[in-house]
Amino acid sequence: MKSFIGDMPKSELHLHIEGTLEPELMLKIAGRNSIDLKYRSVDEIKAAYNFGDLQDFLDVYYEGAKVLVKERDFYDLTMAYLEKAHQQNVLHAEIFFDPQTHTKRGIEFKTVINGICKAIDDAEEKMGITSKPIMCFLRDLDENSALETLEEGLKYKDCIIAVGLDSAEIDNPPSKFQEVFDGALKGGFLTVAHAGEEGPASYIWEAIKLLHVSRIDHGVHAVDDKSLVEYLAQKRIPLTVCPLSNLKLEVVKDLKEHPLKSLIDEGVVVTVNSDDPAYFGGYVNENYVAISEALRLGKEDIVQLAKNSFNASFISEQEKKKFISKIDEYVGSKG
Ligand code: ADE
Ligand code: ZN
Repeated sequence: MKSFIGDMPKSELHLHIEGTLEPELMLKIAGRNSIDLKYRSVDEIKAAYNFGDLQDFLDVYYEGAKVLVKERDFYDLTMAYLEKAHQQNVLHAEIFFDPQTHTKRGIEFKTVINGICKAIDDAEEKMGITSKPIMCFLRDLDENSALETLEEGLKYKDCIIAVGLDSAEIDNPPSKFQEVFDGALKGGFLTVAHAGEEGPASYIWEAIKLLHVSRIDHGVHAVDDKSLVEYLAQKRIPLTVCPLSNLKLEVVKDLKEHPLKSLIDEGVVVTVNSDDPAYFGGYVNENYVAISEALRLGKEDIVQLAKNSFNASFISEQEKKKFISKIDEYVGSKG
């Protein structure tokens, strides 16, 4: 099963580029930028990776992101992820970045986006992997800050594909960001939002009805509302689920209790993703393997998840067909 998963062509749709910052790269970039990091060694960094909930994780994640200062830092970070993704047979990735995490430290928006977009272009040329950035608004900041960020993002519509919503979910409902999401849609961006990770099913409804999202990130709390699960299945609104993240942030106590399989069985378009792989102990393949073992998924489930990953992506229908036929060829070659 491990090699069946590993060699499977797939797409990744829920990945925070700041969450791919491995301890070694964090220390290297901190050194060259003379950043006084809270941590002195890889072991000290890893010792901090002990999270009771989302906020515990975000505190460490924002501390790590402080090392990112120059365009080259964002380039190196993005290239390191795309190399890793390519090794795991990821053919396409849609990558979150959090501009406000950097602009509030005085880093210019263009420094962040230019580093990311150059790495994306070079990776496609070098490895054939395609990718697109999704600009996330931090939901624990106010909507005015998100509106300012949108203004900046609109200048980079040739590279950025969509806007998203992330950071501390509880008490920061999607309804807080209706105006900025309206502006993003009018400006030609697609929309997604983290909802129902720690927050209630009602936040998923809000993201759908008020922010008009094309996908829900996480969305595992949908299982608390039967009519919502039916709606997601009927309207084919995908969930980008992140099993190891849910385990590490104690959204589920044990992967055996994870709702992924019941959501698949209800007909929801579920995808598997890594969220913040440097912090949660695994890239996309490790997420597929962990959830398959815990829920005893069959090969047909893995094929479905991989096909969903392309069907739920923001590529053209023609590209979807091309990638899905690669999956069929792969499965055929395995007899
Ligand atoms: N930012 C990075 N990872 C996140 C997650 N899992 N939930 C919300 N915001 C995030
Ligand atoms: Zn996330």
